[in-house]
Amino acid sequence: MSEIESVLVENRVFPPTAAQAAHARIQGMAGYEALCAEAAADLPAFWAKRARDLLVWHKPFTQTLDDSQAPFYRWFADGELNASANCLDRHLGTPVERRTAIVFESDDGQVSRVTYKELLARVSRFANALKAEGVQKGDRVILYMPMGVEGVVAMQACARIGATHSVVFGGFSAKALQERIQDVGAVLVITANYQMRGGKELPLKRIVDDALAMGGCDSVRRVLVYERTATAWDKVDGRDKGFAEALAGQSDQCAPTPVDAEHPLFVLYTSGSTGKPKGVQHATAGFLLMVRQTFEWTFDWAADDVFWCTADIGWITGHSYVAYAPLAAGATQVIFEGVPTYPDAGRFWQMIERHKVSIFYTAPTAIRSLIKAADSDATVHPRNWNLDSLRVLGSVGEPINPEAWMWFYREVGHERCPIVDTFWQTETGAHVITPLAGVTPLVPGSCTLPMPGVDVAIVDESGQDMPKGSGGMLVIRKPWPSMIRTIWGDPERFKKAYFPPELGGGVYLAGDGAVRDVKTGYFRITGRIDDVLNISGHRMGTMEIESALVAKTDLVAEAAVVGRPDDLTGEAICAFVVLKRPVKDAADGAAIAKTLRDWVAQEIGPIAKPKEIRFGDNLPKTRSGKIMRRLLRSLAKGDAITQDTSTLENPAILGQLDQKY
Ligand code: WTA
Repeated sequence: MSEIESVLVENRVFPPTAAQAAHARIQGMAGYEALCAEAAADLPAFWAKRARDLLVWHKPFTQTLDDSQAPFYRWFADGELNASANCLDRHLGTPVERRTAIVFESDDGQVSRVTYKELLARVSRFANALKAEGVQKGDRVILYMPMGVEGVVAMQACARIGATHSVVFGGFSAKALQERIQDVGAVLVITANYQMRGGKELPLKRIVDDALAMGGCDSVRRVLVYERTATAWDKVDGRDKGFAEALAGQSDQCAPTPVDAEHPLFVLYTSGSTGKPKGVQHATAGFLLMVRQTFEWTFDWAADDVFWCTADIGWITGHSYVAYAPLAAGATQVIFEGVPTYPDAGRFWQMIERHKVSIFYTAPTAIRSLIKAADSDATVHPRNWNLDSLRVLGSVGEPINPEAWMWFYREVGHERCPIVDTFWQTETGAHVITPLAGVTPLVPGSCTLPMPGVDVAIVDESGQDMPKGSGGMLVIRKPWPSMIRTIWGDPERFKKAYFPPELGGGVYLAGDGAVRDVKTGYFRITGRIDDVLNISGHRMGTMEIESALVAKTDLVAEAAVVGRPDDLTGEAICAFVVLKRPVKDAADGAAIAKTLRDWVAQEIGPIAKPKEIRFGDNLPKTRSGKIMRRLLRSLAKGDAITQDTSTLENPAILGQLDQKY
């Protein structure tokens, strides 16, 4: 092995301790392999057994997998159930009904608790309010909500009456919200007057007003407003209603509406490599089955655990592992309204101590920023808090670098807690490659092995399996229950984006590169192979940002966006922009850069703001006019240009593009 290779290979292995292994429901790697063998022998039977064990059916299914319309796979299609009944009603009359479902901590540190029985009453009441507004089975409802109990109640209430929810992250702009409302054809929008984050009161309802005023949202008949703060909000008569008014007089009993297994539980928009964000559509039964199963396997969850997933309900992690899996399992979970750095960067550790969190699931970006904070201020180092309650740690959303992994393992988990590095996507619905706590030996920076029942492989462009040690494209060769069903309103795009004909048309292309370790067969994700960036664990399409930039027609003639590695956010957005007029001086350049950043924030949201902007009177192009993105990536990284620039139409451009704003 060459020297360079050897530093890239992570050799440390952390097998489960005896205590972890004794706790686990799966007995060692032999138990894991037995599950994989069971799935390999008969995949539909493997999932059918678990769908019968883990879900409550209104009408039992008799068919498991229908692949007659592949890649539009259907699971358990002739069965009927209700997702909310599977998360709440099922616990009635069991000891779980008195268990705390949600411990909520607000931005300013106030704590409230809701038991399962109370949650069922609140969801039922909200479901009745939705019915009273005329929302019917199959209707779409948009949520634009802060992180809190109300968001989860609203999602569960939609599920209860068979309405399909579509949650839009509260950081997205009015324009982004309007596009989603229009695409999904929502009849109702649920929002809050304000959200509290980091001690600040940020408007939400006003952004909904702006979105609806942009037009194209005639489907929306009603806006329901949760009054999170005492601050007044502008009420549009005949359209808007406060929660208090909408809920007044509603009964807290509401029979769940049975839906088909394939009924769309939700649509969640995510960025792809081309065009506008895609509405990823998930089905009720398959989604619920796999989020619950993976919750139990990956985290080795048990009834006495206190689970805390820090993801917002605006992302898939908040759907799968906040709004559904913990409730389906009957778990106690913490929901946090605020941000990890307020009032200081010790907030997470303080909350773990306060609520005796035993399973803590967060993103590498958060860990990296808290490492940085602890390095410069000893008072926010995790050692200042008692973290003995922790049993399992989890990471999600982006690759976790081995240094951050080791810090998390030592300083937070005290070398007692396994870290499950869970690889999955909005489209996969649930974990697809991950260690199982107490079972899988861990290697920092590796998401290790596939979930039993998910057939993951690494292939080349023609679909041939890559040998271990060689990088390639990550694919899933067989359907799995929680897979994306289609792109809302665009089945052709679904087929094209995920099931390319070169791979035979029936193989799911994840869009990530990966490599397997020669000895262990462990997977390591090497990053996206398409034009999707991962900024602090949030997906952003380069095309989306480019379209936003060129939409600033008075200033911008052309734009190209690439990512570059960033210590804190994983990747950072770099925009190369051709202006319609020359930049006069540095101050002028800085002013234009600010205008463009504000513009992108307004078009998409603050998370899409380029970290770096460079101006040139052209972009590096080949003689045939293609933008040389590889070259731009090297420039963004600050690498010496080693590529062949002889095909470059305009080599002088490279000098200009050095200046960063
Ligand atoms: C990346 C988030 C490495 C990956 C659940 C994927 C990861 C994209 C990991 C999906 C991980 C997610 N290691 N990379 N453990 N988890 N990713 O749809 O590039 O927001 O394709 O789902 O995040 O992002 P999404």
